[in-house]
Amino acid sequence: MELGLRGKSVIVTGAASNIGRAIALAFAREGAQVAVADIDREGGERTAWQAESLGAQRAAFVACDVTEREQVAEMMEEVVRRFGRIDVLVNNVGWDRLRLFLEEPWEEMERKVRLNLWSVLICSRIVLPRLVEQRSGAVVNIASDAGRMGEFREAVYSACKGGVIALTKALARECGRYGVRVNCVCPGTTMPASPEDAGAYSMWRAGEELASWTTEEMKERIARAYPLRRLGTAEEVANAVVFLASDAASFITGQTLSVSGGYTMI
Ligand SMILES: NC(=O)c1ccc[n+]([C@@H]2O[C@H](COP(=O)([O-])OP(=O)(O)OC[C@H]3O[C@@H](n4cnc5c(N)ncnc54)[C@H](O)[C@@H]3O)[C@@H](O)[C@H]2O)c1
Repeated sequence: MELGLRGKSVIVTGAASNIGRAIALAFAREGAQVAVADIDREGGERTAWQAESLGAQRAAFVACDVTEREQVAEMMEEVVRRFGRIDVLVNNVGWDRLRLFLEEPWEEMERKVRLNLWSVLICSRIVLPRLVEQRSGAVVNIASDAGRMGEFREAVYSACKGGVIALTKALARECGRYGVRVNCVCPGTTMPASPEDAGAYSMWRAGEELASWTTEEMKERIARAYPLRRLGTAEEVANAVVFLASDAASFITGQTLSVSGGYTMI
């Protein structure tokens, strides 16, 4: 299938680790120009280097905290300076720590809202006017099945990801008339393939709570909840993102696609 992504300018936020890295590398294989927007310089430069060696027309790490408006605006200008334009924005940054809502400290709650929802609002508000002006472009937001289900011990995360799903639909309605599509992908549990695939600030990094999930016993327990009876890979999530961003999905907008082995079917 011709995806039409050769030479397209793509921003992937949070691409220094796990799913974001796989997304950046999948665009690289299609010959796109790939901007890795992240706070993790070492991991981000590694992704950019891998992207170039996999066939990206160009790849660059652009340091950016996506919760800071000024930094996002500067990142966008930097990408335009280097690549000439922007065609695709993938809002991938997110963060979670399992916690009962009634035990959640305020600071942690605020951090979840900033990383999972506020960052998506900022990046969309700053990049979309450019896509609208050029009358073309695609945004793919990375939400979660938690946003469809409302998962136990993930109240704030679920609320934010549910917000990302609703934002996707609202922006699709608002921007469709300008030829700009907005879609959303919900990964199931997707662990880094190796410790090197968890970036310095990854929620899967040793010491973070989710790292304790990476045992074989835990993987088997989670897999039992999925009709396909296994965990998915970051590459499987990336395939869906690349498709939705591509010309092959030219009549698809406002949609939420779960890549979670059938965990949710709504
Ligand atoms: N991995 C899963 O099981 C899973 C499941 C459902 C949804 N998701 C969603 O997929 C996305 C990626 O998940 P992951 O497992 O790859 O996460 P990860 O924690 O491994 O990677 C997150 C990346 O975001 C970067 N980052 C963190 N804060 C940032 C900031 N303020 N500005 C810029 N970059 C920042 C980190 O440096 C890291 O590179 C997230 O939105 C997550 O909520 C993941």
